[in-house]
Amino acid sequence: MREQSVALCRPLLPEDTVMQPMLDVSPPKWHLAHTTWFWEMMLLREYQPGYTVFHPDYAFLFNSYYNSLGSRVNRADRGTLSRPPLADVYAYRAAVDAAMQQLLDQAADTLPPLFWELFELGLQHEQQHQELLATDIKYILSTSPLAPAYFNEELKIKTAAAPQATWLPVSGGMHRLGFAGEGFCFDNELPRHDTYVADFELQNRLVTNAEYLEFMAAGGYTDFRYWLGEGWDLAQEQGWQAPLYWVQHEGQWHRFTHYGLQPVNLAAPVTHVSFYEADAYAQWQGARLPTEQEWEIAARQFRPDPAAGTFLESGQLDPQPLPANADPTQCHQLLGDAWEWTHSAYHPYPGYQRAAGALGEYNGKFMVSQLVLRGGSCATPESHIRLTYRNFFHPDKRWQFTGIRLAR
Ligand code: AVJ
Ligand code: FE
Repeated sequence: MREQSVALCRPLLPEDTVMQPMLDVSPPKWHLAHTTWFWEMMLLREYQPGYTVFHPDYAFLFNSYYNSLGSRVNRADRGTLSRPPLADVYAYRAAVDAAMQQLLDQAADTLPPLFWELFELGLQHEQQHQELLATDIKYILSTSPLAPAYFNEELKIKTAAAPQATWLPVSGGMHRLGFAGEGFCFDNELPRHDTYVADFELQNRLVTNAEYLEFMAAGGYTDFRYWLGEGWDLAQEQGWQAPLYWVQHEGQWHRFTHYGLQPVNLAAPVTHVSFYEADAYAQWQGARLPTEQEWEIAARQFRPDPAAGTFLESGQLDPQPLPANADPTQCHQLLGDAWEWTHSAYHPYPGYQRAAGALGEYNGKFMVSQLVLRGGSCATPESHIRLTYRNFFHPDKRWQFTGIRLAR
């Protein structure tokens, strides 16, 4: 798990790893250090007797947002960290990995259950930052006038047209939602609770670039009637005319990818849209976005095969088209490829309790003014995602692999 974070940074120049071209992006060097700080702070400091931290300044430099763990560099200033050099951050990673290895070798039999819970959380946290690394690297490279490619190989675009979208009925009624069973979940997936939902329909696949281009051609970005007021104002202010990363090149829409500038693949799911754009697209279609409850109920009904989705492990970092011969009675692309915006506020489930201390700051304090996304993307590790997983971002965010699923 730790090696995967380093592997994601291997194609970068040291200079690439220091940049913070916008507030939501963190420098790759910072991600490498912050995930390491997490192991040091949450596990080594507590469970390795006599542990001394690698460097006394790192808690200030690499604490993300934990008020209970002290003061820190402002989020907006993460790009000012030319020091410590990248080599020191790699040395930090090696030292903390070695200390963890030593702790496991010496004490695996005697460590208490809470240690193993934090150990699992350290792995899951590392995976969350692997997705952020992949998306932040894309944004960083996109800001270079040279539009450098992250991958050396050519992007192999599957161009066969996606199958026609169909509407699939989903049974409403009382449903029990939230995580149950073996294995890890985040605290925001709990507790299990009952919700009533009316019958509804869900589209069998994600919205494609071809469909999104029709919305653009039909005046999607110039007709306020499709838009939420807040979204319309932002789109005007920012001059949005297409998803993030889209540019006109030789009379054709292209998009910046980990493979450099590439033509828009018509059959692939549209990504890098804000909630506002997703909602406007749905309005234009005479449809709507699902709620997170509907999404989870549908996902449970259709039992998606994770092997069919595109995840970080595929090494493609680009969402893939649904094969033209996909079964039209099945619901596809629920897991992987693109995060699906829901029209649900990221609120605590009924009865949710924040943990005491730093862990209570992990998810719970963000439960206001954000929206829930479901299903994971081509940058999410496959072993990280679940049908009950709740991702959350503000409605204006576009730099994650965010796409559109319609409901009605
Ligand atoms: C769940 C993706 C919104 O980006 O802050 C990383 C993930 N949590 N470290 C975020 C996370 C703690 C989180 N998101
Ligand atoms: Fe973090």
